[in-house]
Amino acid sequence: MNFSSSASMRNELDPDRLPKHVAIIMDGNGRWAKKRLLNRINGHEKGADAVRTIVKSARKFNIAALTLYAFSTENWQRPHAEISGLMLLLRRFLASERQTLVENEIRLNTIGQIERLPEAVRESLEAVMDATANNKKMVLNLALSYGARVEIVEMVKQIAAKTLNGAIDPAGITQKTVADHLYTRGMPDVDLLIRTSGEMRISNFLLWQIAYSEIFFTPTLWPDFGEDEFVAILNDYQHRERRFGAIPPT
Ligand code: FPP
Repeated sequence: MNFSSSASMRNELDPDRLPKHVAIIMDGNGRWAKKRLLNRINGHEKGADAVRTIVKSARKFNIAALTLYAFSTENWQRPHAEISGLMLLLRRFLASERQTLVENEIRLNTIGQIERLPEAVRESLEAVMDATANNKKMVLNLALSYGARVEIVEMVKQIAAKTLNGAIDPAGITQKTVADHLYTRGMPDVDLLIRTSGEMRISNFLLWQIAYSEIFFTPTLWPDFGEDEFVAILNDYQHRERRFGAIPPT
């Protein structure tokens, strides 16, 4: 994609037709590092810089929710050194971005099996979540130790327990009941899903929430993803016709 006209594209964005919820599968940190003969952690460090950029951009464009896939349930299978490097990076990110989140009225939230994270990471997350709890302009969801199938299993367990104790009538279960028992309860469905690095997979990310998402795959490796490309994708999104299974009005 050519981003040379990005400044004019930015001006062309229609503020009334921007996605409310953007989700991103940030892929390609390892390949970015390999191409430069660096180690994988260097790639993740650059990836964390791209996270800083995109969080600020999303806030600038008044996007209500940004969900970033930072660590999947499957990522626990990576070498110990890479996992600890990622956890350290996350703590550094939380320390360095706390003030930015506060100043920009961004609320930090997490989705995933947070109990599996090291205690020091959980403490850093809780500190920033507490400091930003009342912020209303945007929610930044970090998907950590996240897997959609685990999320769905947890939802089923919660609903099953409530039907057993009489809190839920099985005949009255609706799509809203399901949505209300997912990690993303209370948030709008994902309007736009982006995956970097050229891979064309969903990889166990937000399976329920992306039912009607517009999907954008870009070959750019995550550390190289910046505001210009984000704006170009938002522009493309605004030119798509979202029909939600219906036919266009004549
Ligand atoms: C995928 O690249 C990326 C991850 C598994 C982790 C994402 C982490 C970051 C962007 C940095 C830290 C995050 C925050 C929120 C500070 P990969 O390693 O699978 O890349 P590859 O497919 O090229 O090997």
